[in-house]
Amino acid sequence: MSGVDLTTAVGALELSNPVLAASGTFGYGLDLVDLCPPESLGGVVTKGLSPRPRAGAPMPRIAETASGMLNAIGLENIGVEAFCREKLPELRARGAVVIVNVFGESPGDYLRVIERCEAEEGIHGYELNVSCPNVSSGGMEFGHDPILLQALTRSCREATARPLWVKLSPNAPDLAGTARAAVDGGADALALINTIRGMAIDPWARRPMLARTFGGLSGPAILPVALRMVFEVHRALPEVPLVGLGGIETGLDVVRFLLAGASAVQVGTATFRRPRAMLEILGELDDYCDRTGTERVRDLVGALEV
Ligand SMILES: Cc1cc2nc3c(=O)[nH]c(=O)nc-3n(C[C@H](O)[C@H](O)[C@H](O)COP(=O)(O)O)c2cc1C
Repeated sequence: MSGVDLTTAVGALELSNPVLAASGTFGYGLDLVDLCPPESLGGVVTKGLSPRPRAGAPMPRIAETASGMLNAIGLENIGVEAFCREKLPELRARGAVVIVNVFGESPGDYLRVIERCEAEEGIHGYELNVSCPNVSSGGMEFGHDPILLQALTRSCREATARPLWVKLSPNAPDLAGTARAAVDGGADALALINTIRGMAIDPWARRPMLARTFGGLSGPAILPVALRMVFEVHRALPEVPLVGLGGIETGLDVVRFLLAGASAVQVGTATFRRPRAMLEILGELDDYCDRTGTERVRDLVGALEV
């Protein structure tokens, strides 16, 4: 590594570098410790946690696409209690920055996860996954309705003083409106984007490839959409820290997200193909900065010339 300063900050949260593992693609941060130690990353966003363990969706749950993948995992997870007892101690001992991704079918579910985590040291913030159906409100996703989203964010805000991120759905009809609602509810930062709704069909079987028919598209196919959304939200809300993700494969992709306005990024699908992808990406980012005379990575944030 050169002498480039890779540190960045998402609001008040200082990070040693801007590359975090995206939720659902790095387990609980400990599956790849020999290939990609969690403490070498800017941070680890956990698999989405619910108050109780969940079994998830029937198989098949993933399908490969031309430039990415579709998943319908159904939010399988070990539950917040098992996470705190079985995973968190090692993450803490390693000195990893841990962001707990939270989801639920009601505001009460989100609160139960946060309240359990508040009893623990070594959790650096929360990321609300609002791309799940709010069953008590008739199935609409929290992230699609600014009023629901603001209320959900506010009740989580009241439950913690730790950094609170809201992860926006790219499927929402009004991106800027939902972004504003999350900030008005007290979010410290916005993460975007989650997967884009799609489907795949097996022409021989004449059936959907996923048992749940629809899934979330991730990987390089969604990068231009993610970049556009980060740029738009940054332009609409320039003071709000953003965490960009969607299809990042290289250090230059990270630079693209930083220029568009993100203070940090997350890498998801790339890790499935290359378990050391995030470390390689960090090396490439360092190299880019070195070659362009960029002394501090944070000088790239929002520096796009338009
Ligand atoms: C298998 C899989 C599971 C995921 N699980 C979650 C999850 O539990 N919570 C969440 O907020 N996002 C989840 N995501 C979305 C990713 O965190 C990320 O937003 C998306 O994949 C786009 O980034 P990428 O193109 O780098 O993968 C999941 C994605 C994949 C592929």
